Amino acid sequence: MTDIIDRLFYGRSVSDDELSLLISCDENDSLLFEKADAVRRKVYGNEVFIRGLIEISSYCRNNCFYCGIRAGNRDAERYRLTPDEILSCCRKGHELGFRTFVLQGGEDDAFNDDIICSLVSRIKSEFPECAVTLSLGEKSRESYAAYRKAGADRYLLRHETADEDHYRKLHPAGMDLNKRKKCLYDLKSLGFQTGAGFMVGSPFQTTENLVADIRFLEELKPEMIGIGPFIHHSGTPFADRPDGSVSLTLRLLAILRLMFPEVLLPATTALGTLLPDGRERGLKAGANVVMPNLSPVSVRKKYSLYENKICTGEEAAECLNCLKNRIRSAGYEMSFSRGDHKNYNRGATDVKI
Ligand code: 5AD
Ligand code: FES
Repeated sequence: MTDIIDRLFYGRSVSDDELSLLISCDENDSLLFEKADAVRRKVYGNEVFIRGLIEISSYCRNNCFYCGIRAGNRDAERYRLTPDEILSCCRKGHELGFRTFVLQGGEDDAFNDDIICSLVSRIKSEFPECAVTLSLGEKSRESYAAYRKAGADRYLLRHETADEDHYRKLHPAGMDLNKRKKCLYDLKSLGFQTGAGFMVGSPFQTTENLVADIRFLEELKPEMIGIGPFIHHSGTPFADRPDGSVSLTLRLLAILRLMFPEVLLPATTALGTLLPDGRERGLKAGANVVMPNLSPVSVRKKYSLYENKICTGEEAAECLNCLKNRIRSAGYEMSFSRGDHKNYNRGATDVKI
């Protein structure tokens, strides 16, 4: 087993069986975390990048079985921020030092392309030095191209699972893994720094599924990979399913850091929700990004993808201070830079939009 870890550390390939073995065995976690941390420090030093997350809408036309804001959840409280409200979140964030804003929301048709594009260009003209990340679900290539033209730099769209059968068990008829993958390839080819990812311990997930997820990521080569434990939500068909495992999530973060040395890897809120020091443990296992909530405090509880989400009460400033201390206590420093991917050329003009 230590030989497999060593090979990953030196950038060599491992077989599917070896990867399965590594994923399912908990005996080498401390070695794995140590190696992942060494790789992360070599590439990114002790910097942890922060992204200001603004949850712009809890309306969603989709009905993913795991998600608390699915259209079928009648009990979900719905809200939609106005462009002015979103801009004021960005201003508050900018004053606090944030240089990346992530606009995330359900698939809400009220946020049409014109509204999104005008929002993005308003943010970019007021804060030209900041990166704008969108996370608004599946759209046509034309829509993505329009967002890119308006100035959006990055896009997050988890693939959720790279196995077709598993995908169908997590999503209603009409949602399709190939469509999801096409979106990701469109985003990449339009020059977005692109984030994919999956939940750990989602219902029906097998070790083979996780191997397939990693192989898909190798093919896609995303700049960001978001993974976090599945957490049940009472308003969904998966209300009674067990939550994902924190230790498996940490192990996967470390494996991803070894296999994708330069990737931006968040220690997610879901990880911090299942364990009080989950995000710090994530950082020590190779993660190098945290995404504090910049949404107005009044809506934070309503953006409920899963239950017991943390940091729904604190003011952004308090949250940031507490996070800064937490990051420092884990042995890292909070960085206020945009935190672009290492190999990303911001001046690139060879991308056809
Ligand atoms: N538990 C954990 N993560 C979830 N997500 C959605 N619902 C849940 C849940 N119940 C994740 C999905 C989605 C991202 C925004 O949040 O992976 O892509
Ligand atoms: Fe909104 Fe899945 S429930 S995209």
